[in-house]
Amino acid sequence: MEPCTLVIFGATGNLSRIKLMPALYSLEEEGRLPDKMTILAFGRRPWSREKWIEEASNMLADKYGDGIDQTAYHRFIERLHYFQGDLGEAEAFTRLRQELDGNPALLPNIIFYMSIRPADFGPVVGRLGEVGLLDESAGWRRTVIEKPFGYDLLSAQILQQGFLKCLDEHQIYRIDHYLGKGTVQNILVFRFANLLLEPLWNRNYVDHVQITHSETRGIEGRADYYEGAGALRDMLQSHLMQLLALVAMEPPAGMDAESLRDEKVKVMKSIRPITQNAVHAHAFRGQYARGMIDGQAVPGYLEEEGVDPHSITETYAALKLYIDNWRWRGVPFYLRTGKRMTESSSAISIRFKEPPHHLFRNTQLERFMPNWLLMGIQPNECLRMEIQVKVPGLEMNTRPISLDASYRTGDERESDAYEELLLDVMKGDHSLFLRYDEVEWAWRVVDPVLKVWSMERDFINTYPAGSWGPRGTYRLFDSDGQFWRHSLSLDGIDVSSEAF
Ligand code: BG6
Repeated sequence: MEPCTLVIFGATGNLSRIKLMPALYSLEEEGRLPDKMTILAFGRRPWSREKWIEEASNMLADKYGDGIDQTAYHRFIERLHYFQGDLGEAEAFTRLRQELDGNPALLPNIIFYMSIRPADFGPVVGRLGEVGLLDESAGWRRTVIEKPFGYDLLSAQILQQGFLKCLDEHQIYRIDHYLGKGTVQNILVFRFANLLLEPLWNRNYVDHVQITHSETRGIEGRADYYEGAGALRDMLQSHLMQLLALVAMEPPAGMDAESLRDEKVKVMKSIRPITQNAVHAHAFRGQYARGMIDGQAVPGYLEEEGVDPHSITETYAALKLYIDNWRWRGVPFYLRTGKRMTESSSAISIRFKEPPHHLFRNTQLERFMPNWLLMGIQPNECLRMEIQVKVPGLEMNTRPISLDASYRTGDERESDAYEELLLDVMKGDHSLFLRYDEVEWAWRVVDPVLKVWSMERDFINTYPAGSWGPRGTYRLFDSDGQFWRHSLSLDGIDVSSEAF
């Protein structure tokens, strides 16, 4: 791997504190950072290098406490540099260029990481272009763009047009941090390194697919961002659509970035467009009201700091999608996400159809339970298959049992998604980053829903914090036999259509 300079815009912000700096340090500890690689924090405050090192050390201490390896730590802080500048001022970028050209410690292969407000992505890239910092004659130049890429289809298109004035697609790394999670990558391995399930992975055997991300957390002081985003943009258009693409895609021609992304785009292109008058049949939104989480009373969304008391921003969104292709035609994919829900969990649940003939109909079998395949993404990282077996004894009774496999053995460490993604940018590997057409197609899917929701400003369903979301989401289901699969355990099977 070639050594490089990593310039972080927004290095003192939240993402950097919680994710980027801890991930970089962890890579250091594992000996994965190239020698001579440097990290240049671009910040507004008039700090010295020493002050930045002190701040960065606090970030690491917040994350790792006293679990920091002193040798790795000293190697790490040697890499840290600070540059004072204001993102809004052209002059700062001219000085940045002088610094990058003139300081021999800062190498000419450069990554610019945009850990900044989405509204600043375009202007910052534009300024880098103006001062010639995106020109690749002295070394490669890569930009990392955090989500969200645009606010809707049109703004994503405008942002992209702006980027293309000074960047080539190969220089752009659009992050969806879900793709950096081991359990998400495991979806591909599970599907394409095993033959077992492939014959069943289609409309002939699958009844429906559910993709759920629930969180007990609220908006955690991010009202500024969340008020304008909402659950559909924040989680569904990005992370859950990626999960859907990985579950539904065809085997790629190879594991290279373009083959993988070609297949993901094909899936998104095949999603049946939701017309504006079908939005109510396909989408449901809700907002959390006061409730209890882990025995503690928590405020409702409208009482959160910075939230407009009349806000109709959704903190829960559910969508039913159909993929109109040979493999999936007619199989509903139900996607849902919510904040302040009963538990924090991300999972993909695949329900299979019932056997064509109920051989056990005239026995004492109580109710027929379909097979489920469950893929736990977090925090329960597992693969689970639920099947029917006979209950021991003289009667012919059955019960479901689950065949379980944990993704990780006790002593295996799972790296943070950002470790993998940062390393990939350094290597120049685009496989786990979004190509522009993926983003655009994902916007095309949710855009009609966003439009209708933005016009209907008088009412939003609410749900008590600590519940499984608003009542009424059951109307999305295609048949009475379908219900939300709330948890991965067998007792998570909730067949009551009013449960919420
Ligand atoms: C982020 C969203 O992209 O993903 C957050 O902006 C959300 O609102 C987070 O909480 C969830 O990520 P993870 O890795 O904690 O599941």
